[in-house]
Amino acid sequence: MTEAAPMTDTAERPAKPHLPDAQIVTAVTHWTDRLFSFRVTRPRSLRFRSGEFVMIGLMGDTGKPLLRAYSIASPAWDEELEFYSIKVPDGPLTSRLQHIQVGDEIILRPKPVGTLVHDALLPGKRLWLLSTGTGFAPFASLLREPETYEKYDQVIMMHTCREVAELEYGRQLVASLEGDPLIGEMVAGKLHYYPTTTREEFHHRGRVTDNLSSGKVFADLGLPKMNPAEDRAMVCGSLAFNVDVKTLLEGFGLREGANSEPKEFVVEKAFVGDGI
Ligand code: FAD
Ligand code: A2P
Repeated sequence: MTEAAPMTDTAERPAKPHLPDAQIVTAVTHWTDRLFSFRVTRPRSLRFRSGEFVMIGLMGDTGKPLLRAYSIASPAWDEELEFYSIKVPDGPLTSRLQHIQVGDEIILRPKPVGTLVHDALLPGKRLWLLSTGTGFAPFASLLREPETYEKYDQVIMMHTCREVAELEYGRQLVASLEGDPLIGEMVAGKLHYYPTTTREEFHHRGRVTDNLSSGKVFADLGLPKMNPAEDRAMVCGSLAFNVDVKTLLEGFGLREGANSEPKEFVVEKAFVGDGI
């Protein structure tokens, strides 16, 4: 694990893209040896709802695009697009993507989709955003979206990683919100940030599932136990995490919704596979 401060590289003025669906990298930040984030130019025609994902990638060795699903981590109003990425050592895409630099091109298919959107939930009082690892990415978008604070009295962001350094992207993003000229005032007093680690000392410990089932998070934040009349949730993590959280939420009486049938919670995979 890299302990050094995050390294950021930014470009003042991106050059023009050359390939169809190509966008130019404008900033890259390496958070740990397994995590980085980057920003790219946004196609003028791209409209998306905060929380959705797109296919992005690089040109493969065979001359065919090598594409993977990525949550857009920036909000719908942002002029650029941000992504938060894992580095899989032997991963076909990320073994190369982790080396991108400002001025490089990536491919971005402008067809946003996904279930972690406000439209897929019925109105409620509190919104719970529950994530592990890079599952934070869609919530990085929704936390910067004014609609999130217009629709809910309270927003609770739970993010769990093995180690403290893996929480840093989320920590800095949340810290920047209160001073944000667009949503600073909306966020104040509404957002509860509840990061935890499972394999390193930290002021809050434990899995999201354990903190929910024991009631610890409700006690710590002074909130009532989750109930279907008031609480809504969005879930994004590994398959095992999603399955376990879904069971818990159903135990609280919440039902899974979708774009076509809004209910009390929605789920999306942060990645396919068992993890690394
Ligand atoms: P792959 O061959 O795709 O993956 C190899 C293995 O690495 C997987 O089997 C899995 O075990 C592990 N792995 C892959 N992605 C992750 C991850 N994010 N965290 C932990 N382990 C992983 N990835 C992101 O980094 N950021 C995102 O915002 C993001 N959004 C996604 C949204 C959706 C809807 C889906 C389905 C996936 C998303 N992914 C995201 C995963 C992404 O599509 C790729 O799997 C990832 O970029 C690795 O690509 P790869 O070609 O290097 O390795
Ligand atoms: P733990 O350390 O107890 O396994 P990973 O790095 O394996 O993707 O996990 C990211 C975080 O998600 C870790 O803190 C891990 O806790 C936690 N986690 C993994 N599986 C689950 C699950 N089924 N339910 C809740 N948390 C999980």
